[in-house]
Amino acid sequence: MSESRRLCVIPGDGVGQEVIPVAVKVLQAALPGLEVVDAEAGWGTFERTGTALPDATLEAARACGTVLFGAVASPSYPVEGYRSPIVALRRALDAYANLRPARAWPGVTPVQGLDLLVVRENTEGLYAGRERREGDAAITERVITGRASERIARVAYRLAAASGRRVTVVHKANVLRVSDGLWREVCLAVGAEYAKVETDEGLVDAVAYHLVRSPARYQLLLCPNLYGDILSDVAAALAGGLGMAPSLSIGDRFAIAEPVHGSAPDIAGKGLANPLGAILSGALLTRHVWGNAQAAEAIERAVEEALRQGARTPDLAGPGENAVGTEEMGREVIAALSAGG
Ligand code: NAI
Ligand code: MG
Repeated sequence: MSESRRLCVIPGDGVGQEVIPVAVKVLQAALPGLEVVDAEAGWGTFERTGTALPDATLEAARACGTVLFGAVASPSYPVEGYRSPIVALRRALDAYANLRPARAWPGVTPVQGLDLLVVRENTEGLYAGRERREGDAAITERVITGRASERIARVAYRLAAASGRRVTVVHKANVLRVSDGLWREVCLAVGAEYAKVETDEGLVDAVAYHLVRSPARYQLLLCPNLYGDILSDVAAALAGGLGMAPSLSIGDRFAIAEPVHGSAPDIAGKGLANPLGAILSGALLTRHVWGNAQAAEAIERAVEEALRQGARTPDLAGPGENAVGTEEMGREVIAALSAGG
């Protein structure tokens, strides 16, 4: 079913240039006939061309419908004319739902029983960009709309119904009675339509506490933007680290598979980056967008098998364990994929 799929591939900056080609090879091994369209974006692109997200890249992304994005190296100071191309791309493609699974992996996950999906609202909340100075005060407006809450809740409940997960609606409505109050009300109303899906709710601070204390307690966390950003990083740490953490941003028409990590300037250019976050992001795309659960599982099983065989990039290797580089890790996954048939 995947034979005519087209994927727009944007490696971006730093380790994005290293992990994305490896992830593409794995995807092509799992999905014969996958057509790849190369495009560019990022800080390097900005320095060379004056724009971080060229129109041609946006057109290619729209034409393909699906994107595999590496990472960008955004400076932490304002630069005239520069905007983060990944934030701009998510907005342009209206990729409003960010899926971030975290699960236990053989030999690298310190906790047992973890199998969590964080579903994060990707467009509003504290990140709506409504900030201003008024005299001595700095003001950020936290925008929650019924429309955005409802569409993300629908994504979460659809996924929960398909995977048998319990949904936990995360909020802080005891303090933020108006904004998180609306979020909570809308999410619970959508949940009421799904009789077969179990729902509970949690205050974000308590959820953070329980997540660290007993990670297997949660199955799907439905979160507004900021809470989802923070809790998914906690979950990523529990699962094996940033290098392993995959994500998928989806909207109604477009999808962006993107490892959670950034451009990792401290290790970029050395061939040491862990490609598993990028590879597993490709598996998410394969499952949730291309509807090919069989190929997605094959990729995830191959990652599991490579780890079971002892393949470790330096971020995963324990003291005294031998580490492999980015490309070798990719070869191990492809070998396991071929052996798995
Ligand atoms: P980072 O994710 O790039 O790195 C944090 C730490 O994790 C570093 O020690 C790094 O070596 C390690 N790490 C990251 N990816 C890894 C991988 N695949 N394998 C092994 N180790 C890995 O975050 P940081 O350092 O805060 O930001 C660096 C740059 O990346 C900044 O310019 C930031 O704006 C950008 N960034 C971009 C993101 C994106 O494109 N989605 C997300 C986060 C940061
Ligand atoms: Mg983050």
